Amino acid sequence: MILTVTPNAALDITHHLDRLRPHGSNRVRAVAERAGGKGVNVARVLHALGHPTVVTGLVGGITGRAIRAELAAAGLTDRMLAIPGESRRTVAVVEESVGDTTVLLEPGPVVGVEEWERFLHHLDTLLPGAAAVVLSGSLPRGLPRDAYAQLLRHAHAHGVPAVLDADGAALRAALPAGPALIKPNADELTAATGLADPVAAARALHAAGAGAVVASLGADGVIAVTPHGSWHARGPERLAGNPTGAGDAAVAALTLGLVTRTPWPDRLAEAVALSAAAVAAPLAGDFDPAVHRALRPRVNVRHLAPFAAEEPDPCP
Ligand SMILES: Nc1ncnc2c1ncn2[C@@H]1O[C@H](COP(=O)(O)OP(=O)(O)OP(=O)(O)O)[C@@H](O)[C@H]1O
Ligand SMILES: [Mg+2]
Repeated sequence: MILTVTPNAALDITHHLDRLRPHGSNRVRAVAERAGGKGVNVARVLHALGHPTVVTGLVGGITGRAIRAELAAAGLTDRMLAIPGESRRTVAVVEESVGDTTVLLEPGPVVGVEEWERFLHHLDTLLPGAAAVVLSGSLPRGLPRDAYAQLLRHAHAHGVPAVLDADGAALRAALPAGPALIKPNADELTAATGLADPVAAARALHAAGAGAVVASLGADGVIAVTPHGSWHARGPERLAGNPTGAGDAAVAALTLGLVTRTPWPDRLAEAVALSAAAVAAPLAGDFDPAVHRALRPRVNVRHLAPFAAEEPDPCP
C-alpha cells in the first residue's frame, strides 16, 4: 500500500462557461466538484493503475465532508483526520471559447498545535502498512515551517521511504530530514537554489539532503540526479492539454518505481509517459491510458555526465 498525505486537502470546483466577463454576472454552463490537493491526485493515479492506496491529511467542516464523500465515490480509501477548521475550496473558471482558465485558491483552515500532534499520532497508525509515503502540496496555515521534516522523521522511524513534492520554505526545511526523493518543477528548483541551470540546481538539492532529485521541466521531461547516476528523460513531443496535475502523475510513477525497485531509466521513462498522459486528460488526477501506452516506448532516456568534482553550494 502507498500512503499519500495531503495536509491542505481541497474541494476542487470547476465552472465551465463560454467566456468570463469581469465586473458582471456570468452564467455557468456546467459545474464539477471533486476532492483535490496534490496527494489526492497522486492517489487517484495510483488507484487507476491498480495499486492499493490510502489517502490521509486534514479535512474539516462542510467542505471537508464534501471532500470525503467524493473520495468515497471515487473508490479511494479515506483515512483523513477530521479537524475543527473549514477545508479550502479551489475554483477554476474554464472559458471554453478561448481555452483559458482562471483559478481562485482559498487559503484553507488554520491548524493548531494540538491538531497537528493528533495528526502525527494518526500517521503513526497508518505508516506500518505502507511500502512508501507521498508527502505533497502546500501546508495549511498554523503549521510550523518544518512540518514536512517532522512527517519525514515519523516515516523514517517506521522504515518507510518518503517522496516529497513541496516548494519554497517547506521544501528547504525538509531536506535535512532526508526524503528518499523530491520532485520539484523548474520554478521550484530555481526558487529553492537560486540556480538557473536545472542540473546544477538538482545536484545542489541532492547535496542538501534529498536521496534523489527528479526535476520536472514541463514538455522537456525530467532530469534525475540519483546516487546511481543522472539522466534526462523526455517524450517525443509537446502535448496540448491541461498540465495541472501532470507533476502529480510523475510523482505517482516515481513512487511506484521506488516501491518496485525498477531501474532508474525505466522509472523515468514511465514518469514521463504517465505525466504526459495526464496532460492529455482534462482533470488533475486523471490520465489518458491510450496516450500512456503509446508514449511509453517513445520516451528517450539519456545518461548525463557524472558529477563534476566541485558541487555548487547547497541551498542558500
Ligand atoms: N505540454 C506537455 N507535453 C508533454 N508532457 C508534458 C507537458 N507538460 C508537462 N508534461 C509532463 O509532465 C511532467 C510534469 O510537468 P510539470 O513540470 O509541469 O509539473 P508540475 O509543475 O509539478 O505540475 P503540477 O504541480 O501542476 O502537478 C513533465 O516532466 C512532463 O513529463
Ligand atoms: Mg508540481
